[in-house]
Amino acid sequence: MKDIMNAPFLVEMVRTTTNMYAHGWDERNGGNISWMLDEAQAAEYLDVNAVIRDIPTGFEAPALDGKYFIVTGTGKYFKNVQYDPACNLGVIRITDEGKNAQLLWGFTDGGKFTSEFPAHMMSHAARLSVDPANRIVMHCHPANLLAMTYVHDLDSRAFTRTLWQMCTECVVVFPEGVNVLPWMLCGTNEIGEATAEQMKTARLVVWSQHGIYGAGKDLDETFGLIETAEKAAEIYMKIAHLPRVNTITDEQLHLMEGRFGIKAREGWLD
Ligand code: 13P
Ligand code: ZN
Repeated sequence: MKDIMNAPFLVEMVRTTTNMYAHGWDERNGGNISWMLDEAQAAEYLDVNAVIRDIPTGFEAPALDGKYFIVTGTGKYFKNVQYDPACNLGVIRITDEGKNAQLLWGFTDGGKFTSEFPAHMMSHAARLSVDPANRIVMHCHPANLLAMTYVHDLDSRAFTRTLWQMCTECVVVFPEGVNVLPWMLCGTNEIGEATAEQMKTARLVVWSQHGIYGAGKDLDETFGLIETAEKAAEIYMKIAHLPRVNTITDEQLHLMEGRFGIKAREGWLD
């Protein structure tokens, strides 16, 4: 058995949580990440037959039965993951149609997965149904995106159009746009179901007055999506109170489509 501390999935989780904390996106225990692993990938570093304990999930997700995830723990601080990965992270296997999680490694202080586990697991199932390559769901609290939800129309098309207008390459990075949910109670199955529904049409889902969810094939892609949207929101918050003298027009965004071979969400450009 190889040392799990050298497992690429562990090393990358440590690097990413540390980097997200450094970006100011994850104050205190804010934010959470889940990464779906291949069984063979996990089996190189841990005994997949040695279940440490069972943790009920409180929801059903039959599509995820038998799937393995490395996930951040509830109440754990992203800044501390690098110092004690085994306490702050866990590897679990989903069983019983999603109703149970078998802990295979981690959460050494008796802890458990993030309170946003419903939104994570339901979002994985939703993304996999439209993109079999999806592996990551990431949630965090970036200040400018959050600020924007206090002063901007929360209509997904309007919100996306503003982000696309803030940096030329936004439309290339997230041509499907961002979907925006109104404020909802976090940590519930309801917000999980609503997030998963929105994840069927976009890899970014904003939780108004709370934060953002991103999904992607790896940590880099998912981090990059959130990073790009947050940069656009930062520019919006710098200019929102000033007269808009110039902007990026829909005609220019159509030129970007041609240049980069992408297609903006149907009907979201004029
Ligand atoms: P957890 O500590 O349970 O992961 O919760 C953090 C959070 O961001 C809730 O939305
Ligand atoms: Zn949160």
